[in-house]
Amino acid sequence: MKTARATAHSNIALCKYWGKRVDAPAELNLPATGSLSLTLDALWTETVVGPAGADRFELDGVTHVDDAARKVFAHLDRMWRAAGRDGARPHAHVRSTNHLPTAAGLASSASGFAALTMAAAAAFGAELDRTRLAALARMGSGSAARSIWGGFVRLDRGNRPDGEDCVARALLPADHWDVRLVVVQTTAGKKPIGSTAGMERSRTTSPYYDAWVDGAPQDLDRAEAALAARDLPTLGAIVEHSCFKMHACMLASSPPFTYWNGTTVEVMRAVWASRAAGLDGFVTIDAGPHVKVLCTAQTAATWVQQLGVLPGVVAVQTCAPGPDAAAEVIA
Ligand code: PMV
Repeated sequence: MKTARATAHSNIALCKYWGKRVDAPAELNLPATGSLSLTLDALWTETVVGPAGADRFELDGVTHVDDAARKVFAHLDRMWRAAGRDGARPHAHVRSTNHLPTAAGLASSASGFAALTMAAAAAFGAELDRTRLAALARMGSGSAARSIWGGFVRLDRGNRPDGEDCVARALLPADHWDVRLVVVQTTAGKKPIGSTAGMERSRTTSPYYDAWVDGAPQDLDRAEAALAARDLPTLGAIVEHSCFKMHACMLASSPPFTYWNGTTVEVMRAVWASRAAGLDGFVTIDAGPHVKVLCTAQTAATWVQQLGVLPGVVAVQTCAPGPDAAAEVIA
């Protein structure tokens, strides 16, 4: 094997993925809903994969011997098989650096697994197209499939039991539309529940789960059309509806759970109040307490000023549409 370096940018789902298909092998990690995302320029992961005497996973300079490391090594095994290489996978040293504003619990699994997929493919000499790389990244983390591409990306749910029609594709390039995502960080406590377990609890106990899954295709098609037309009010309304249907589904689970804190709610209300006063901006929230605001390039600075001074907000950062993931062999 060679030594390869890859970069992959994080992404935000404008139409969310929440829930896994149970009619297919769990290993494929197939989503119950398709999703549509924006790849982000300012949040990214850099990963180097190279030969070593023993498997080792280093994240931001700290060696991990935990579940995170086991998932990384399992992904290397998957990439080795996908490369069509015979015999046992060689031991590897994986060094990842997260270029995220702080270690405040912003999702890094999307950029992390996308960068690992790209770096491992290059290090193992695998000749795989981006569609296949995205499918492999998805098996590490569902949202990672979307980070293989830059710009605006759609991940189709598909129906086939082998998952071959669950495909991530670039809808429109980063320069299609000069939108911004303002990331408002609130204090991150410990997550009440990981995303896989949260999805499973929603599926098995929330009376809203079926409605959530059933409504996703329509949201996706409408969002895709609004995106093509650069129609922010229409897209923004779909973005908020998708987000809050997902969070309502979590709240209606038994026992209930939420990733929000008090500041999450205050920021959300502030965005709605400013929008009522004429400022364009729409809320989305993932499996964490931070609030992200989709807006135009013209209003981003105003949002940063207004939301940055709210009590409980620890940092605010603006992201523009970001590039494709990339890899190169360096030794
Ligand atoms: O890829 P995962 O397992 O971290 O799940 C991502 C789920 C959400 O971030 C809440 C939504 C999404 O589509 O990214």
